[in-house]
Amino acid sequence: MVPLIEADDVSKRFPGGLMREGALALAGLTLAIHAENPSIIAVVGESGAGKTTLARLLLGVVEPSGGAIRYRGTDLRKLGRDERRAFRRDVQAIFQDPYGVYNPFYRVDHVLRTPLRCFGLASSRAQAQELIGKALRAVGLRPEEILGRFPHQLSGGQRQRVMVARALLLAPKLIIADEPVSMVDASLRATILGSLRQLTDEHGISVLYITHDLATAYQVSDSILVLYRAHLAEAGAIERVVSAPQHPYTQLLISAIPRAEVTRDWLAPRRRRQWQWPHPHQRGLPLRRLLPARPA
Ligand SMILES: Nc1ncnc2c1ncn2[C@@H]1O[C@H](COP(=O)(O)OP(=O)(O)OP(=O)(O)O)[C@@H](O)[C@H]1O
Ligand SMILES: [Mg+2]
Repeated sequence: MVPLIEADDVSKRFPGGLMREGALALAGLTLAIHAENPSIIAVVGESGAGKTTLARLLLGVVEPSGGAIRYRGTDLRKLGRDERRAFRRDVQAIFQDPYGVYNPFYRVDHVLRTPLRCFGLASSRAQAQELIGKALRAVGLRPEEILGRFPHQLSGGQRQRVMVARALLLAPKLIIADEPVSMVDASLRATILGSLRQLTDEHGISVLYITHDLATAYQVSDSILVLYRAHLAEAGAIERVVSAPQHPYTQLLISAIPRAEVTRDWLAPRRRRQWQWPHPHQRGLPLRRLLPARPA
């Protein structure tokens, strides 16, 4: 079966910097996403690992230096007019800072109506309104609270969910979400990640969820790609990777996740320190630094 989108041994080098050959942002990555079995694929890696570069390559915003990105079997660089249009509809993006997408002089309705108009998806204003209302409700927003407002009148989480609704309007096959929750608080993060999970489970849309946070990746994803310094460190089903990580970087990521261990005895290891009056030459130091450390 031909994948919806595939990266075939894709590399990207950006010119510039001090090295003559430029900076290697992605090296020999191979990945296939099939439309038939929608899932959430997490892309995890430290800052500068190449995650956004991968997103931009898959969206066709930057061209690979080596290898190819294919949409339904055709190299993105060789898509005809109609194929390109289909690609633009099938693959949508949600970014970290949704504010950049909005025009502050237009009401929020504008960002929702534009894609419908561009793709001729609504035959009347009333139908457009109905589709928009449905998409907003699908991400847990009330249309009457959102429509008619300007972007700055919404909260960050609402703006981000409007972006998810916008992506949903086009009934895409894949949504590439680059750090979609890194600018929102913990409760909203859960809501937005929940909306992403719904896109997959209820609307059959695959999501490439890019994050530096392995914990949220584990919460919502089915599979994971771990990038480390432009290279694919590890890939596989999320349960397998988290329970038996193979690459040292993945092992490090997993060991860094704070866990609530209820069996841990917080009080027992308290070491009793003898309070001693500081040595005379320490007396000028702030009190905080002279007090005994809090028990670990
Ligand atoms: N347009 C560009 N020109 C030059 N170098 C770039 C460009 N875009 C990215 N890079 C470099 O490519 C590498 C990968 O960057 P990328 O943005 O993909 O990282 P990232 O994993 O998304 O990081 P973060 O978590 O900070 O968003 C970095 O070293 C970056 O400096
Ligand atoms: Mg990035």
